[in-house]
Amino acid sequence: MIEINHLTKRYGRFTAVDDISFSVGKGQVVGFLGPNGAGKTTTLRILTGYLPATRGAASIDGHDIFRDSIKARRKIGYMPENVPLYDEMRVKEYLKFRAQLKGVRGSKITSSINEVLDTCGLVHMKKRMIKTLSKGYRQRVGLADALIHKPDLLVLDEPTNGLDPNQIRSIRKLIKRLGESHTVLLSTHILSEVEMIADHVIIIDGGKVKASDTPTNLTTSMRTAGKISVEIHGGEAEIMSQAIQKLEHVKKVIPSTIEGEDQWLNLDIFCDSGTDSRERIANLATQEDWSIRSLHRHKATLEDVFVEMTRKD
Ligand SMILES: Nc1ncnc2c1ncn2[C@@H]1O[C@H](COP(=O)(O)OP(=O)(O)OP(=O)(O)O)[C@@H](O)[C@H]1O
Ligand SMILES: [Mg+2]
Repeated sequence: MIEINHLTKRYGRFTAVDDISFSVGKGQVVGFLGPNGAGKTTTLRILTGYLPATRGAASIDGHDIFRDSIKARRKIGYMPENVPLYDEMRVKEYLKFRAQLKGVRGSKITSSINEVLDTCGLVHMKKRMIKTLSKGYRQRVGLADALIHKPDLLVLDEPTNGLDPNQIRSIRKLIKRLGESHTVLLSTHILSEVEMIADHVIIIDGGKVKASDTPTNLTTSMRTAGKISVEIHGGEAEIMSQAIQKLEHVKKVIPSTIEGEDQWLNLDIFCDSGTDSRERIANLATQEDWSIRSLHRHKATLEDVFVEMTRKD
């Protein structure tokens, strides 16, 4: 659906996007991540035909975005970072204006408007002036605008930016539902959001692609993937740590806080990634007559991956 080949964008001497290539298959929901200034918006604006590239090519469903721009753009529903809405228009009126601008004709205009109002939960807001809408509803209008010409591909630049947790949830649910029938390229800083809705993740930093994989592959390849925390009691801290350290696949044991007066000890146990030593730890405790009140194996999150891939120190 999307092919990006050796795309470069320079603003004067500054290279915002530096020779990036990736592709997105039909039906995929892809999270496009990166720190502030990484080049996400620049890439998305080039991909949607709003900004010329300095070098390289981008195509949508086989249509080159520069040479075959009209056909390519017809396939795309783009929701920009700051949705430019006309404050003095009513929601329905605005969507009609946008539909006409995007080449929707005749009786299809009304049916498309009704469909997107319904999809985006805007039916009861259709007569409201845009300037009276809350941020969440403005975002919905932006999404409705992106959908109005029935594109196959949705390109969403931080659609939940600035929303409260409830509104984030409902927009996320909406995007998830749209992902069932669209290809979606979604830029966001909310990593839990990506974990919930994306089946592929691309991380960029400094204009370069740092990682491109499924969320599961990214998180299981992380170092923190092999950490177990245990709350244990019944022996000397040093002795318990050393005994656990000798277990198979255990690389390092680090005692952390001791809680309360009854001397419970927290141990962070770093293991080979892809292994699970919880049962061996429990068996050892039984054998030594130690008590365990929690035994937890940590899974790395996408946030861990993001920080690892993009940190500057
Ligand atoms: N018109 C412009 N002229 C000069 N530099 C620009 C221009 N637009 C963007 N940049 C620079 O290009 C880099 C990439 O910007 P871009 O907006 O693509 O980042 P982003 O990944 O979308 O960041 P954010 O998460 O903050 O939205 C930044 O350093 C930015 O300052
Ligand atoms: Mg941006």
